[in-house]
Amino acid sequence: MSAEVDFLTGMAQAISTMTLYEDGHPARERAIDRAYAALTDLQDESVTRAFTFLGDEIVMDSRPLRELKHWDWGGRLAGVGIQRLELTGRVTREDFDAFLEEAFNRLTGAMVSSAAVRQGRPTNIRYGEVGLRGRDEAEGTAGEAVSLATLGYSLEEEIQAIEWLHAELKDERQLHLLEAEGIVRSLSVAMHGDRAFLIPMLRLKEFDQYTVTHTLNVAVLTMALAEYLGLGPREVRGFGIAGLLHDLGKVRVPLEILNKPGKLSEQERLVIETHPVEGARIILQTEEHLDLAAVVAYEHHIRIDGGGYPGLRYPRSCHQASNLVHVCDVFDALRTHRPYREAWPTERALGIIEEGAGPEFDADIARAFVTMMRQWEDRVTEVGTDDPELRLGGRKEPEASAEAP
Ligand SMILES: [Fe+2]
Ligand SMILES: [Fe+2]
Repeated sequence: MSAEVDFLTGMAQAISTMTLYEDGHPARERAIDRAYAALTDLQDESVTRAFTFLGDEIVMDSRPLRELKHWDWGGRLAGVGIQRLELTGRVTREDFDAFLEEAFNRLTGAMVSSAAVRQGRPTNIRYGEVGLRGRDEAEGTAGEAVSLATLGYSLEEEIQAIEWLHAELKDERQLHLLEAEGIVRSLSVAMHGDRAFLIPMLRLKEFDQYTVTHTLNVAVLTMALAEYLGLGPREVRGFGIAGLLHDLGKVRVPLEILNKPGKLSEQERLVIETHPVEGARIILQTEEHLDLAAVVAYEHHIRIDGGGYPGLRYPRSCHQASNLVHVCDVFDALRTHRPYREAWPTERALGIIEEGAGPEFDADIARAFVTMMRQWEDRVTEVGTDDPELRLGGRKEPEASAEAP
């Protein structure tokens, strides 16, 4: 068994033993000793490690651990807010004990949580929900933002950048993080273009462009919703990147299936349903700093009631970013003309979101979305990519409407 598998299974065994024997019992101490020995062996190979628990998928650094494909502890840990476990330096026995105790408390629902105290002191074992890491970027200077904002937007460049990203992936080349970040930054500038906050929505021109158009719209809606919910600029951008990349796995689905006018066969449906897992895999394999995007790609079709896909062996809640993207994703899909259905008017699409609040969508997030779209209705601006009349210049277009073209 590899050192990482040894460590993770040892850790799970130690936690299980903790539920059976109380503190100080020799069996409990032995299990913890074994797990700590496995951790020491793992750190002999490399001191720093990062594990991500994504449903059935366990990833170390950026490599999926195939041996643990059906290891149910990944889902359990993720379900109690430990989606990520990082070893940032040699872990002392004391820190490891503290971590095990916290994981045990969370898993057993113990009321006494020492996380706040423990995480407050320096430790080389860190854990928590997946978020953006290591990007202590300074915000773009105000001068820069202002000069860009006066240019007016057609989103043409963003569209081309996304097309290029997808083409690169189709050719089995790589995912370019900087491009994705660049797109999100410029979307963010477009949204804050001219004092008033705007929600630029692209109108679909050709069915082939659906994924690109949809991807940008979901990124914009997700950022708007994140901002509406009061998240800070860094999180908003992280959520935007996740929105932008949520359907990345579709580059592996043939266009004939994606744009099929009629009803999908069972087999075609199964092919489409691979896109969340594929997307998460592509993201994790190609970039180390996009864990949040990988989680969202994986989770964006999972319903609150546990339905949807990929199926979860153990029901657990999804990341907040996934819940945001899920709502924005469905809304944008409904209001877009597809080969098999006309676009729905905004109000009708919002009705579906309202109905789904609870069983399908996180109820608070779905309600916030509906309220936001109604409240900010006049800030939603349709952008026609080839129609100069519809270009964004920071004002509301008279044609602005999310209704079918
Ligand atoms: Fe999707
Ligand atoms: Fe989507």
